Amino acid sequence: MVPPFPTMRLRRLRASQALRDLVQETSVSLNDLIYPIFVEEELDDFAPVESMPGIYRIPERKLAGTVKEIAAAGIKSIMTFGVSHHKDDHGGDTLREDGLLARMLKRAKDAAPELVVISDTCFCEYTTHGHCGVIHDDDVHNDETIENLGRQSVIAARAGADVIAPSAMMDGQIAAIRAALDGNGLTNTPVMAYSTKFASAFYGPFRAASGCDLKGDRKAYQMNPLNGREAIRESIADEAEGADMLMVKPAGPYLDVISQIRQRSLLPLAAYQVSGEYAMIKFAAQAGAIDEARVVRESLGAIKRAGADLILTYFAMDIARQGF
Ligand code: PBG
Repeated sequence: MVPPFPTMRLRRLRASQALRDLVQETSVSLNDLIYPIFVEEELDDFAPVESMPGIYRIPERKLAGTVKEIAAAGIKSIMTFGVSHHKDDHGGDTLREDGLLARMLKRAKDAAPELVVISDTCFCEYTTHGHCGVIHDDDVHNDETIENLGRQSVIAARAGADVIAPSAMMDGQIAAIRAALDGNGLTNTPVMAYSTKFASAFYGPFRAASGCDLKGDRKAYQMNPLNGREAIRESIADEAEGADMLMVKPAGPYLDVISQIRQRSLLPLAAYQVSGEYAMIKFAAQAGAIDEARVVRESLGAIKRAGADLILTYFAMDIARQGF
């Protein structure tokens, strides 16, 4: 047993920077970060997202150049979101080989083949009602939606997506997507499940960024933010359906959930530092209340310390430019 104070002194290992570095338990590197981007069709110039300072909607026609810059900055992976001008009641544009989803994946992959291109796989940015699937009787129809998610995954993988990341929170979506991919010979395309996605108010700025006019809310499919055990059930279910990676979203307010899932699964675990988490840090820094660079690094480090292997963050580009 370690003898107590005054023999034991925890401050001994904090005495110099080099010593502190030696005993640091967690570190974050660019290898761990995924940069989410918004791509809009029929747009001429970069359009700033007012609620997310530093984030722009990228015009589809400037995507190739932007993706090259992202890769040159040292980013290893991006996640793509489309801002659609061709919405309908079921997100049909995503099921077309010449739709925005397929075009942006192909352009991104062609521009920087070394980047891991992850396709956010959902319908909300492509439906007129803003919900994540097909509506029947005022409810998102689960089984029809997962069939469509399977179709969208095949389109995305064929267009160039390296990873499929379904975020619709439908039951059985991982099994449906795995079956669709395998049935089309895409057996090597991994699925990163948004396994635990909460019905969070922290997505507010994203809805503006992605041009999603949601009528109502997503509480009938995304998880209640106050449930922890259910988060484990969702993760276990997605793992059993064949997910290759799991995810918790949002990240910062859910470190307990990240930590519990880390203890119960051997799969790589991602965490999504969402738009609201980004906006809070950016606006507080702009107001002079916090030191942005330090808070960003502390928040990402804490997400890793809790047990995440990968972090989706809008700060990835800042970090690639500035270093850790
Ligand atoms: C929906 C989707 C959302 C986010 C990622 N994918 C929004 C939602 O579920 O309402 C949120 C991302 C963020 O807030 O940064 N496919």
